[in-house]
This record gives sequence, C-alpha cells and structure tokens, in this order.
Amino acid sequence: MEQPLVTNQIEFHLLHPEPINDGTFHQCEKRGVAPMAWSPLAGGRLFDPSNPAALRLAAAAKAMSSRYNAGTLEQLAYAWILAHPSRPLPVIGTNKLERLQSAAQADAIVLEREDWYALWEAAQGRRIP
Ligand SMILES: NC(=O)c1ccc[n+]([C@@H]2O[C@H](COP(=O)([O-])OP(=O)(O)OC[C@H]3O[C@@H](n4cnc5c(N)ncnc54)[C@H](OP(=O)(O)O)[C@@H]3O)[C@@H](O)[C@H]2O)c1
Repeated sequence: MEQPLVTNQIEFHLLHPEPINDGTFHQCEKRGVAPMAWSPLAGGRLFDPSNPAALRLAAAAKAMSSRYNAGTLEQLAYAWILAHPSRPLPVIGTNKLERLQSAAQADAIVLEREDWYALWEAAQGRRIP
C-alpha cells in the first residue's frame, strides 16, 4: 500500500483483552496507528447476569465507583479501554441518547493503576501476574 494505515479496528474489551498481549497494540504503538476498539461493552455481555465474569465485574465496579464520581460499570469499562497507552477509541454500539451521554463522561475518568488491574482481574477471575 502507498498510503500508511491510520487505524486498526479490533475487538477489545474487558472480556477480550487479548490485544494487550498478542502484539496488536504493540504494533499499533510502534507504527503510530490509532486502534479502534469494537464491542467495547462486549456487545452487551458485560451486563449478562448469567455470565460469571460480568457478575465479578459488576462487583468490582461497585467497589470502586465512589472513587470515580459514582462511575457505572459501562463508564469504567470505557475508561479501562481509554487508559491503555495505545489510546484505543471505543466504537460504541448503543444508539440510546442517555447511554451515549453516559459514555461521554467516561472520557473524564482516569483509572488508578490498581483499579485498572482490578477490573482486568475481575474479568479474568484470576490474578494478573
Ligand atoms: N470490525 C468488526 O469486525 C466489527 C465487529 C463487530 C462490531 N463492529 C462495530 O462496533 C460497533 C459496536 O459494536 P457493539 O454493538 O457490539 O458494541 P457494544 O457497545 O459493546 O455493545 C452494544 C450493546 O450493548 C448494549 N448496552 C449498552 N449499554 C448497556 C447498558 N448500560 N446495559 C445493558 N446493555 C447495554 C446495547 O444495548 P442498547 O442498544 O439497547 O443500548 C447494545 O446491545 C458496531 O456497531 C460495529 O460498527 C465492528
């Protein structure tokens, strides 16, 4: 290609964190490519009460919510994506105005490093080394 790639649209969310470790984000950072993260809320599975990972995430989000202006699970999930050094841009799926307004507030949330890992660990159900 004569034109440089400017973005790489990839699946990235708390239930699919693989781009962190499989070299995708590393390559984006190295080449100055801004990643786009599709299904930032796992296509809604983050709120599925039959999903054990979703239940663990709901508990983790509740425990840290007061530190982030009563941040909701979806806001913390967006903030978790935005916090990665490659600065992924979430491709939001909802068309509901109140959910879009809520999502926009996530841009102001700067997760403490411990909380960023706590969300990842809650999603995985194990300690992250
Ligand atoms: N490049 C690719 O291969 C690829 C693949 C898949 C998707 N995409 C792109 O990524 C976009 C987003 O994907 P996505 O739709 O999977 O994104 P998503 O934002 O992860 O999921 C959206 C779903 O989550 C639900 N949701 C949002 N907030 C919620 C809440 N607080 N409680 C309960 N449910 C909630 C939405 O329901 P409501 O609609 O009722 O709010 C909707 O069903 C797509 O539109 C598409 O453009 C690209």
